[in-house]
Amino acid sequence: MAESIAFSKTQDRKTIYAEITPQIKSLIELETDTIANLANVAAVLKEAFGFFWVGFYLTKEDQLVLGPFQGTLACTRIDFDKGVCGHCYTTRETIIVPNVEEFPGHIACSSASKSEIVLPIFDKDGNVFGVLDVDSDKLDDFDKTDAEGLKKITELIEERL
Ligand code: SME
Repeated sequence: MAESIAFSKTQDRKTIYAEITPQIKSLIELETDTIANLANVAAVLKEAFGFFWVGFYLTKEDQLVLGPFQGTLACTRIDFDKGVCGHCYTTRETIIVPNVEEFPGHIACSSASKSEIVLPIFDKDGNVFGVLDVDSDKLDDFDKTDAEGLKKITELIEERL
C-alpha cells in the first residue's frame, strides 16, 4: 500500500482532483474494510486541499452518525431532516452551501465553518449509505469543480461497498 500521496502544489483544484482520484482508487481497492477506506479518503482530501473539515456521516437506523473524519470535534448525530447533511440525505443530491449562516437549519459544529458541500453515497441497493461532508473556513469556497471531483471519489467508495 502507498504510504503517501503525490499532488501538485497548486491552487487549481481541478488538477489536484485529477491527480488524487486514481491514487484514491489504488488506495481503497485492496482494502475490504469500509471504515478503514473512509478514514484514508478523509485523510487524503484534508492533506491535498487543506479543507477545514472533511468527514463522513453514516446512516444508522434513523439518524446520520459521525464516521471517519479529519478536523475539529464534530456533532455525532444528525436527524434525517436536519442540517445540510440531513438535507442531502433526504434529497439524495449534492448540495453546495456558499454561506452556512444563510442555510435554514444549518448545524454549526464550529463557528469557523463558513461554506460547505455535502454529497450522498449510495449502497448497492440505492439506499443512502451516508454522506461526505466538506467544510471550509472561507465563504463560497465550493463550486462545480468540487461537486464533480468529489462525486468521482464517492463513486469509488460506492464501488467498494
Ligand atoms: N454543518 C453540518 C453538520 C456537520 S459539521 O459541519 C461537521 C450540517 O449542517 O449538516
